[in-house]
Amino acid sequence: MIDIKRIAISTGGGDAPGLNAVIRAVTLAGRNRGWDVVGIRDGFNGLLFPDQYADGGVVDLPREAVRGISHLGGTILGSTNKGNPTAYPVQQEDGSWAEVDRTDELIGKFREAEIDALVTVGGDGSLTIGNHLFQHGLRVVGVPKTIDNDLDKTHATFGFDTAVGFATECIDRLFVTATSHGRVIVVEVMGRYAGWIALHAGMAGGAHAILIPEIPYDLEPVAATIKQREERGAKFSIVVVAEGAAPKGGGVSTVGQTVGQAERLGGLGDKVAQGLHDLTGKEHRCVVLGHLLRGGSPTPVDRLLGLRFGAAAVRALETGHNGVMVALDPPQVTYVPLVGATHRMKTVPPDCDTILTARDLGINFGDQMP
Ligand code: F6P
Repeated sequence: MIDIKRIAISTGGGDAPGLNAVIRAVTLAGRNRGWDVVGIRDGFNGLLFPDQYADGGVVDLPREAVRGISHLGGTILGSTNKGNPTAYPVQQEDGSWAEVDRTDELIGKFREAEIDALVTVGGDGSLTIGNHLFQHGLRVVGVPKTIDNDLDKTHATFGFDTAVGFATECIDRLFVTATSHGRVIVVEVMGRYAGWIALHAGMAGGAHAILIPEIPYDLEPVAATIKQREERGAKFSIVVVAEGAAPKGGGVSTVGQTVGQAERLGGLGDKVAQGLHDLTGKEHRCVVLGHLLRGGSPTPVDRLLGLRFGAAAVRALETGHNGVMVALDPPQVTYVPLVGATHRMKTVPPDCDTILTARDLGINFGDQMP
């Protein structure tokens, strides 16, 4: 048993439905052990820049603060995917930007605030920072989060089920209007490195083509599928694209801005819709679901996973674990070392049975003629 009096929780990176369930579980499980629980605003910004917050940036989390929040999307603590404290962008006198390592300063702030341990909830960026803080002496447990479901060391992350459910509902609606008008509708969903959302929602929604980052595409096979459907009397088609898919020999579609260290993706849906129009002559529309997939109330699956991860993080701290990430290894939640937890992305294996099933159904991935 470790002597813990006070723990902090922070949420970093893009938000995901289920974050508030994690915050609730960490708070209640911590308080039920007699610990103080505080929340850091906007990743680590609340600790680094207290003057920017009316409440001081680090807030007490009594039981009342987490009452009835599991069903709420977003995070009551706020989040950021900018300003990595280990490579913090600072403008120089000559106007140029340099990266400053603020690790020691941040660790010092944890000590000043008498925080004995940190539960950091985030994706690859936040977990890498968490591992860095652990290596510099802070007691840290990570909780994996991403709607993209692309973290390798855990079977699942909360937010994915909610995103797939909503995307499927949208595809269902678009299916109806595409049928009425005999149009090609391209639906762009999130998925930077992995096409899990596109694949699962596309299949559940009955898409006719799905483009994912793991399978570089040509538009000719997709156009051939659309024409083949037309010959069979189906004048409409639904094409689901992950934002991070790329044509054979080409790069991802970006909007020319960076967020943190990553380039913002965008525009692929429109490009695919226009390209398919050029090849088929069919009337087309593009719908970008984007951040709609990150909002909304988490499904029961995501609420439960968030609660399980949050409570498991507290049990990990209580039993002396340090520098670990909680992970789902069905049916159990386990702990894996934080180091290496983000080294490899969990991408869609092109020969997995879900892809084979899709091919058996005639769904085109832009790599083979129908
Ligand atoms: O959470 C990951 C993700 O959903 C990616 O698929 C997407 O590229 C990114 O977030 C967008 O995040 P933001 O617009 O908040 O920077």
